[in-house]
Amino acid sequence: MPGFTVDFIMISCSHTDMNRLDQLATLLRFPSISAQKEHAQDVSDCADWLVAKLTGMGLEAKACKTPRHPIVLAHSEKQEGKPTVLIYGHYDVQPVDPIEEWKSAPFEPEVRDGRIYARGATDNKGQLFAHILGVEELLKQNAGVLPVNVIFLLEGEEEIGSGSLSAFMKEHKDELKCDVIVVSDTGMAAPDAPTFSYGLRGVASADIIVKGPSADLHSGVFGGAISNPITSLAEIIASFHDEEGKVAVRGFYDGVAPIATWERSMWATVPGMSNDELAALTGVECVTTEAGFTGAECIFARPTLELNGIGGGYQGEGSKTIIPSSAFAKISCRLVPGQNPEHILELVEEHVKRHCPKGVTVEFKPGHYGNAYICDPNSTYGLAAQQALEDAFGHKPVLVREGGSIPIIEEMKRVLGADALMLGMCLPDARIHSPNENFPVDLFVKGIEMSQILLRRLGQQ
Ligand code: BES
Ligand code: ZN
Repeated sequence: MPGFTVDFIMISCSHTDMNRLDQLATLLRFPSISAQKEHAQDVSDCADWLVAKLTGMGLEAKACKTPRHPIVLAHSEKQEGKPTVLIYGHYDVQPVDPIEEWKSAPFEPEVRDGRIYARGATDNKGQLFAHILGVEELLKQNAGVLPVNVIFLLEGEEEIGSGSLSAFMKEHKDELKCDVIVVSDTGMAAPDAPTFSYGLRGVASADIIVKGPSADLHSGVFGGAISNPITSLAEIIASFHDEEGKVAVRGFYDGVAPIATWERSMWATVPGMSNDELAALTGVECVTTEAGFTGAECIFARPTLELNGIGGGYQGEGSKTIIPSSAFAKISCRLVPGQNPEHILELVEEHVKRHCPKGVTVEFKPGHYGNAYICDPNSTYGLAAQQALEDAFGHKPVLVREGGSIPIIEEMKRVLGADALMLGMCLPDARIHSPNENFPVDLFVKGIEMSQILLRRLGQQ
């Protein structure tokens, strides 16, 4: 009996699909939250489970220790003359809060309306497991002989910046030598719009701390004579964008590559990405884009500066008449090709210091960052991947760049010299990083097929 809740939709599932889903449910039950120390053992147990699964399939697999969470590395028996495909994924997940908004517990997978609900269902366990089962089936079909050499590289720190993988890759360059990388950790425009992503935005994050009086002050006794750090922070924040929605940091757009004409025409046809659809999906009245660009263009190929959090002063019940002693904001920029994250952080810091009002001081703390990535979607491997998507899903793929980031992909290109084929299955309503994350069961099954078709096609190159 499968160990998860079954609803009527399951009746239409074949025995094979039930078994596949049962295994995915086991993987989803590990609370492998990389950000939280109390889950370190769960992350490690999840890695061990993956190693056992990959070993059971006939691959040479191990969990490699790192300063933080283990890296799972597996490979098939090397066959000369066949291309080597490195399949990258991450088995760590985001924290679950706000927990009260989940309809079923995040680590007790449940199938409702044809979707499996659990933290990590889409990002990234469901997608990476489709590749694992794809490879398992290829091994079974052909007496253990694969159409390509396969390396699985599965990390447990993607959601916290891939710190260990970065060093690991440099140390294990030879073991990781490959011709091309396959990743399913990006978006899919719609269930009938297979999506090939040939770019990712980069990211650069920072904290801004504004300090005023040495302690909270009575706002009647001192108010009017002493700067309020929250007001000062608000002024800094308000200076970040101009009235056209552009980032007003000097030099921010230097080197940003223009969007190609073919990209603009292609992106205008991506389902779900019109301005009206984006507004409806996100529940806002209208989209607010940088002047001269559509919502899709802004997401795929324009840099941003976002506020991710803000705090300071009294947050409790009722009122409290104070001038707080400090205020803070957390920001991150999404970057596009042509921008250097370290340089962007310097420019933003300069801007913050220049716009800091009198009467307070400001501290700028740079955080994690990574480069944007772009590759040619029409390379030999790229075309093979596009064909595999069409074969598996019965529709021509749309070609997009991703608004999200997987910083390690650009580093892999630099260290291993291989490009990444990004065939994502993250639907717009998958609720990744949010309560009620889910992955459609039929997409999971399609993904297993797609993985096999893809590896066969790559083997013919
Ligand atoms: N899988 C996502 C990235 C993603 C999601 C790309 C959907 C495209 C479409 C990944 O797990 C993620 O969340 N990345 C972080 C990276 C950050 C922590 C450096 C992101 O984009 O915020
Ligand atoms: Zn994620």
